[in-house]
Amino acid sequence: MKQLVIKAFGDADQLELADVPAVALEPGQVRVRMHFAGVNPIDAKTRAGLGWGAEAVKDRLPWSPGFELMGSVAEAAPGVTAFQPGDRVFGMVAGGGYSQQLVVAADSLLPVPAGVSDEMAAGLPLAGATAWQGLTDHGGLKAGERVLISAAAGGVGHLAVQLAKSLGAVVVALTSRANHDFLRQLGADEILDYRDPAAMAALAPVDLLFDLVGGTSGESLLSHVKPDGRVITVPTITAPQVIAAAEARGLRAAGMLRRTDNVQLASLIAMVADGRLKVDISRVFELAEGPAAHRQIETGHTRGKVLLRG
Ligand SMILES: NC(=O)c1ccc[n+]([C@@H]2O[C@H](COP(=O)([O-])OP(=O)(O)OC[C@H]3O[C@@H](n4cnc5c(N)ncnc54)[C@H](OP(=O)(O)O)[C@@H]3O)[C@@H](O)[C@H]2O)c1
Repeated sequence: MKQLVIKAFGDADQLELADVPAVALEPGQVRVRMHFAGVNPIDAKTRAGLGWGAEAVKDRLPWSPGFELMGSVAEAAPGVTAFQPGDRVFGMVAGGGYSQQLVVAADSLLPVPAGVSDEMAAGLPLAGATAWQGLTDHGGLKAGERVLISAAAGGVGHLAVQLAKSLGAVVVALTSRANHDFLRQLGADEILDYRDPAAMAALAPVDLLFDLVGGTSGESLLSHVKPDGRVITVPTITAPQVIAAAEARGLRAAGMLRRTDNVQLASLIAMVADGRLKVDISRVFELAEGPAAHRQIETGHTRGKVLLRG
């Protein structure tokens, strides 16, 4: 069984395809043959040795990235009744998604509804959870409020635009000019090029800033938040910097760490199934092309989601 691993932190070329022995199933587990695995910035940051992700895995290298996958059940442990071999499943995993096969607890997975593509199911869990939890649990977004979403065309952002619209918010989306049509089709109300100072200066204040870029970009957007507004800054490494700058302006600000919630994920995939939520897949790489997939995500200019094919 092939798995992409790193033996040391470093650049994208640290990712290598290793032969890994298949492990036996324990009670309650299933073996999933991966069809597609999502590639997220956290995978590349952890591979590079940055942030909480690297701190968590530094003592257990080699490590295989990948926190979300979609595949088919190859084998179920005796007593597992939720899934049969051949069933299409998806969900969040604790790393190792970049593997041809992965053994996981059956109750950590959800079925892929008929009519939902393998690719959309693979790209939904991590970005979908982050978008939903950021806007609702952390951001408290209400119908009629104005929300400013930076990196609106990216993995989290393009889902956040659609989810904020579904909540009845007025969505102001920031992206480069090349992605304006893309965001218009997803329902954004106002679309601004963040590199256009005149457009940014004309932006009316917002109730909630959903900052998906962080750092100096996040700081530069604080002047567009109403005096009683809120800020949720999502990139964890720069969160303290953005929160401190927001609080210095008297704004309520917080960071976040997405959590796994399969009740929430079931609601999100139901939205995909009935056409209310679209997961845009801009690039698919073969598993052996892991380094190229990481270089793509590290451009910081990916539209929608990037996947690896098993
Ligand atoms: N805390 C958590 O639990 C959590 C969970 C998920 C993600 N994250 C973090 O959240 C961030 C976003 O994740 P993601 O998966 O959405 O990333 P992504 O898909 O790589 O985001 C790419 C997007 O960023 C846009 N962008 C780049 N610079 C920008 C700027 N200065 N202003 C506005 N947009 C800009 C690009 O748009 P253009 O090409 O149009 O420039 C591109 O569409 C990452 O830092 C990630 O690590 C944190």
